[in-house]
Amino acid sequence: MPISPRATRKPTPRLRAAPRIPFSRGMHVSFNLAADLDTALKSAASTAGLADAAAFTPEVRTADPRHGDFQSNGVLGYAKSRKLNPRATADQLVAALPADVRARYDITIAGPGFINFTLKPAALAAWLHTYSTADALRAGAAALHAGQTWVVDYSSPNTAKQMHVGHLRSAVIGEAICRLLAFTGARVIRDNHLGDWGTQFGKLIYGYKRWANPAALESEAIEELERLYKLGNDATPDGSPELDEARRELVKLQSGDPENVALWQTFSDVSLAAFQQIYDRLGIRFDHNLGESFYNDKVGRVYRELAETKIAEDSNGALVVFHDEHPRFNRNAERPNPFMVRKADGASGYASTDLATALHRTEHFQADGIVVVTDFRQADHFEQLFLTVRKWFAAKGYRVPDLHHVTFGAVTGEDGKALKTRSGDVIKLKALLDEAVDRAYTLVTEKSPDIPEAERREISRIVGIGAVQYADLSQNRSSNYVFSWDKMLALDGNTAPYLLYAVARIHSIFRKAGVTPGDTTAESAATPPETPEEIVLARKLTKFPDGIRLANESLRPHYLGLYLFELASDYSSFNNADKVLVDDAPVRARRLLLCARTLLTLETGLQLLGLRTLTRM
Ligand code: ARG
Repeated sequence: MPISPRATRKPTPRLRAAPRIPFSRGMHVSFNLAADLDTALKSAASTAGLADAAAFTPEVRTADPRHGDFQSNGVLGYAKSRKLNPRATADQLVAALPADVRARYDITIAGPGFINFTLKPAALAAWLHTYSTADALRAGAAALHAGQTWVVDYSSPNTAKQMHVGHLRSAVIGEAICRLLAFTGARVIRDNHLGDWGTQFGKLIYGYKRWANPAALESEAIEELERLYKLGNDATPDGSPELDEARRELVKLQSGDPENVALWQTFSDVSLAAFQQIYDRLGIRFDHNLGESFYNDKVGRVYRELAETKIAEDSNGALVVFHDEHPRFNRNAERPNPFMVRKADGASGYASTDLATALHRTEHFQADGIVVVTDFRQADHFEQLFLTVRKWFAAKGYRVPDLHHVTFGAVTGEDGKALKTRSGDVIKLKALLDEAVDRAYTLVTEKSPDIPEAERREISRIVGIGAVQYADLSQNRSSNYVFSWDKMLALDGNTAPYLLYAVARIHSIFRKAGVTPGDTTAESAATPPETPEEIVLARKLTKFPDGIRLANESLRPHYLGLYLFELASDYSSFNNADKVLVDDAPVRARRLLLCARTLLTLETGLQLLGLRTLTRM
């Protein structure tokens, strides 16, 4: 029986303040191994006395697993431009690496001077022992956005209208981005920028005052408001006296008439209450619902500052911004398309409120980063907005936050056409989520008829909603979201049911073993990974920081989804090749440790994407 090195080690005295580092055989490993190697190679360049060490960039990246865990490619370009022999330079660098780095990796120099690093089993074990809890993972990841404040503007539907499938993507992608930013250390402010202001409210009030049905407003508020808007719209054709009347209602609202303001407030309240039902099902809670109306009294400053800094100019009575350095937004463009800061009739618009919004987020929330999640059709608006904001803030000496417009493609059916009901209407989000849960119930009942009915209902809520969320998040958001019930509910492939099932299966192993996942006493008996499948799985687990970093840097959650899917596949190969509950205690302990870390990583990752997970399915 192998002797655990721990048995011969003196217990380390425990310090109060320091986090307890779990058993790691004395080897220190950082969370982000690639970043660590990068630093080590840079300083090795000076240690080795490279003449131009400051110019050396190691370019550490995750390697093709056949070659190792990481590869550094920087020697090539460096040596070439200085007429050095790249292999000799690589040799020099490797020799200058500190002993602890060399203790962690098997290092080889390949081809013309690539340096390949393969984690040794003891280093893999050390990483797995160190990053053994969700808190440890979070602490490791926090370096990315520590101390920063990010405002995320997502979902942001228009009030008095039901959310439809188009609103699904912004909500699902936005929530995942919030969680990713928070996990990496940011203070995240979730802001629902409701479309709650505009000319449509004149017609709605017109319809409401004539045809409102109080009972329907109680039971199906948004449906009723949609009906009233439609009636109001149909009754006020262009040029009619009825339209003049609707306009008067709007002017009354805008000038603070108590009756119309109270009506408008009701529209907002019932809309939000209905939206909240959807948000609850998706696990979304906003910190603020600062809609367009909130910025009503804040646009004056925007007009003033943009005019005074000469960023905006008068154009037939309107206040507009041209961006002459831009191919399409300059004044001589084929179809001039200036940014409309204030309309000719003096009214504010989408651009005015968004400018005021950017200022508020910067001044009031002290945002370091601002993310707005909408479909790609608003790309021009946000490009013009951000160009304007940068010039404006620079001219006034305000700090300019990182500005990101996160776009996504359309939702289509499998035929590539916009997703519609059989009768050709847009699909309501509520109906879609109900159908997802129903379909998941059929699936769960087929698979596990023995689970009690109430639990099967709960499972299908998690699987059904998770399937809809994950089908969106597993694809690059720039692509269209091709909606397919069969694909999203499949138990194979990169789907929520596959990943949730992997989680449930690991839980069942622990139930069978009578061990709690992550139990440190049980894990201290574990020997380093040994079989090929154990090694592959352990290596994959240490790549979690990569998935997190990629998803955060590009604000594209599918990178994390892809990582989780690959992890689940490696786990499945391990599970097929190596029996976990064997009699040999150290082998059993190390396999249970791999199971526990796979579970931790899958659960943490799925929660970051906004999904809930299960212990059985
Ligand atoms: N209400 C808009 C819509 O439904 C989205 C608002 C996005 N956020 C913003 N700050 N413009 O299209």
